[in-house]
Amino acid sequence: MREIPVGILGTGKYVPERRLTNQDLEQMVETNDEWIVSRTGIRERRIADPAQATSDLAYEASLRALQAAGLTADQLDLIIVATITPDMFFPSTACLLQERLGAKQSAAFDLSAACTGFIYALATATGFIKTGMYRHILVVGAECLSRITDYSDRNTCILFGDGAGAVVVGEVAEGRGFRSFVLGADGSGGELLRMAGGGSRIPSTAQSVAEGRHFLEMNGRDVFKFAVRVMGSSAEEALAKAGLGKNDIDLLIPHQANVRIIQSAMERLDLPEDKCVINLDRYGNVSSASIPLALAEAVEEGRAKEGDCLLLVGFGGGLTWGASVLIL
Ligand code: ACO
Repeated sequence: MREIPVGILGTGKYVPERRLTNQDLEQMVETNDEWIVSRTGIRERRIADPAQATSDLAYEASLRALQAAGLTADQLDLIIVATITPDMFFPSTACLLQERLGAKQSAAFDLSAACTGFIYALATATGFIKTGMYRHILVVGAECLSRITDYSDRNTCILFGDGAGAVVVGEVAEGRGFRSFVLGADGSGGELLRMAGGGSRIPSTAQSVAEGRHFLEMNGRDVFKFAVRVMGSSAEEALAKAGLGKNDIDLLIPHQANVRIIQSAMERLDLPEDKCVINLDRYGNVSSASIPLALAEAVEEGRAKEGDCLLLVGFGGGLTWGASVLIL
């Protein structure tokens, strides 16, 4: 039986208006612009308006992706939203988005794999289309990380921002589309990066809130070491699975957590800076939205063109990691 080539039909992005700069953070915690830029590469991040939640950001990015794909919402068969900051536990953010878009024919669910969520969701969507079960799937990475960030903790509050990126996944011409996926997880590292409160283990109570369990916690040094290791290894694995080598990469689209982590991946892949998309200086780490935001910008700016070989690679809480080779 012929294998259906599956790829990206359209991309879209949305970031909130408000900017939180390093200078703003200097007024909030004991830090400074020089430290943040030299240790992370981040200069500012976007912060959602109090009236906005994750589904609102997802909605704006999805409208743009649908328009770019030349499709209407009622042509969608499935919506997958990758997020760790859903509007609420349930209904899922994907269901809230389905209603907002008027995507009446589509199924909808959220997927939780932290910053790797978008790559996990792309792999899931690709599987559904390859089996012939669905034709058009909206895949969104959207986050309001500002809502789970402790702005009195300088170890974390300098890193995160809000935003959304979306793509429509469907059948593409022969020779294009996803060539490989690598997905991984190591639950033994779950404590390195988590939000422990508000679930069934530590339900929200006045005490859990007083103890700050509703905020993201992170062991930055250990996550850093893990990230450097898996970014390189999963990127190489995805290339090998696709039958391609480092020289075939036109553009690396990495998760945007720390410029030093991205630089180590570039070194391992022998890639010059102009073959890598970096936008964390403007948006910080937007978890599952980082990769689709970077992809949508690269397409908008003409840096990613039809036929280009893209390598997407990410890591995150779980711990999780993932990579994919895509001929755009
Ligand atoms: N301003 C000034 N000083 C600071 C700040 C700050 N914002 N934050 C920490 N420091 C201090 C520390 O207290 C420490 O001081 P000490 O030596 O007196 O103890 C010193 O700076 C060095 O701290 P380190 O933690 O060693 O700094 P490092 O160079 O490792 O950078 C960072 C910290 C940026 C957090 C880095 O470890 C990192 O990027 N880790 C990866 C984080 C990441 O990728 N998270 C992904 C999240 S993905 C997801 O699923 C949400």
